[in-house]
Amino acid sequence: MTNAVEATLVLVKPDGVRRNLTGEVLARIERKGYTVTGLKMVNADRALLEKHYEEHIEKPFFGALCDFMESGPIVAVRVEGNRVVEGFRSLAGETNPTAARPGTIRGDFGRDWGTVAIENIVHGSDSSLSAERELGIWFAE
Ligand code: PPS
Repeated sequence: MTNAVEATLVLVKPDGVRRNLTGEVLARIERKGYTVTGLKMVNADRALLEKHYEEHIEKPFFGALCDFMESGPIVAVRVEGNRVVEGFRSLAGETNPTAARPGTIRGDFGRDWGTVAIENIVHGSDSSLSAERELGIWFAE
């Protein structure tokens, strides 16, 4: 596993974009030594989000998650590097921003805002298989 160059999908979610944290997220990715190989701002529609989050379709938070992801523009980023899928998840920190450790993106900038949806600034693919699938959705062309 020492030489496993791969790509992952990072999304700066609507809360991250609204709070002007896009540059901060990109800076952390680049400072870690990963390479940005694709970048675009997207107003995601329901169909795209339902495809992206299809594994969570039965979860109680699914509607709130899609509403939140539709609430503003998202910055989609293709990132490359050795073991970058695991590496970015570690930069992002735990899903719940209140519990995420300081030093991580969610731990440094996220908290519970008392909203229905968890607002946690970024998404990162959870496996190289998911990354391939998700990059196909967000960078279809
Ligand atoms: S699970 O049930 O363990 O698979 O879920 P988890 O991996 O923790 O989260 C999957 C994605 O769903 C988002 N999520 C939520 N969004 C809004 N509101 C609520 N309550 C909520 N709970 C989980 C979570 O942020 C993950 O999104 P991504 O974009 O994949 O990080």
